[in-house]
Amino acid sequence: MKKAFSGVQPSGVLHLGNYFGAIRRFTEFQNEYDCYYCIVDLHAITVYQDPKELPGRIKDTALYYLASGLDPEKATLFVQSDVPCHAELSWLLECVSTFGELSRMTQFKDKSEGKESVSSGLFTYPVLMAADILLYDADVVPVGEDQKQHVELCRDVAERFNSRYGEAFKIPVPIIPEFGARIKSLQDPYKKMSKSDPNPLGYISLSDSKDEIAGKIRRAVTDSGREIVYSPEDKPAIANLITIYSLCTGKGFSEIEKHFEGRGYADFKKELADVIIQALVPIQERYKYYDDSEQLPEILKQGAEKANRVSSQVLKRAKEKMGLSLLADPTGRKLF
Ligand code: AQP
Repeated sequence: MKKAFSGVQPSGVLHLGNYFGAIRRFTEFQNEYDCYYCIVDLHAITVYQDPKELPGRIKDTALYYLASGLDPEKATLFVQSDVPCHAELSWLLECVSTFGELSRMTQFKDKSEGKESVSSGLFTYPVLMAADILLYDADVVPVGEDQKQHVELCRDVAERFNSRYGEAFKIPVPIIPEFGARIKSLQDPYKKMSKSDPNPLGYISLSDSKDEIAGKIRRAVTDSGREIVYSPEDKPAIANLITIYSLCTGKGFSEIEKHFEGRGYADFKKELADVIIQALVPIQERYKYYDDSEQLPEILKQGAEKANRVSSQVLKRAKEKMGLSLLADPTGRKLF
């Protein structure tokens, strides 16, 4: 069975972009692939996280994986910091990646722009992500468009490692959805929807109430004119809202345009809020079910056990290739 790996940061409440661009699709992979899905808390701490809030966010992210349809019998769900191999392989890969290639990462440029002080972890974030993926011999990495550059870096670093030290890693392929790969902010259609956006009007959280959803859609920015047409160049804000409508209903763009022909933005926004609510209510109900049933600690414990088993084999392979000490290896292999 081929393998899939992906992760989500517990850096805030998940939003529609995380759901349509990533998590909903994770569940589509679990019948065909051996899937490893991770709550990447080590990535989240590249920017300050309040230690009092982080455990709740980790739990919340895990519950939204389950609420979105992830089946722990089919896929392995775990928390990154429960599997020490991630941090260790990341260091080995940092010694194979270059300052120049990390400097070209657009997410680093965006997240560090205008900041007085930026952690070195934010700079090396893509190397940790490469370690996450390579530790599970992943064939595919389902992600939103913003992560494509990071998966490409992972491929480059893995290829460099393999040619320098000998074959240790499988080269993964990113899988980006045709639609919904980059849902935009409701307040700025040139920016992606982001959970760390300081303005909550920019995103719809998976936990938003019906009133909050209706209010955020009512206040979403629109373009000039009044026609509901999908034209990302001329009408980026409306194109973003049509994309969300399409993802919630499964209807194509021309069907949506026809449905709203001769009607204005107010009508469109009202229906859009309704279809988002219809899409989110079942997720919120399943979230509550999993929260009440208290299955989560056991699911994450078993997930971490399997992830530790699998990843330690790959880390060992990489260390052997590099000529590093394996004296503490449980198989008893001696270096000299
Ligand atoms: N706006 C988006 N549209 C489509 N997909 C998106 N993803 C994120 N934003 C959008 C995808 O969701 C997965 C998990 O993302 P992440 O938590 O690892 O971090 P991120 O990509 O940096 O997402 P955020 O929401 O913007 O988080 P913060 O604000 O903390 O940086 C990924 O597959 C991502 O592509």
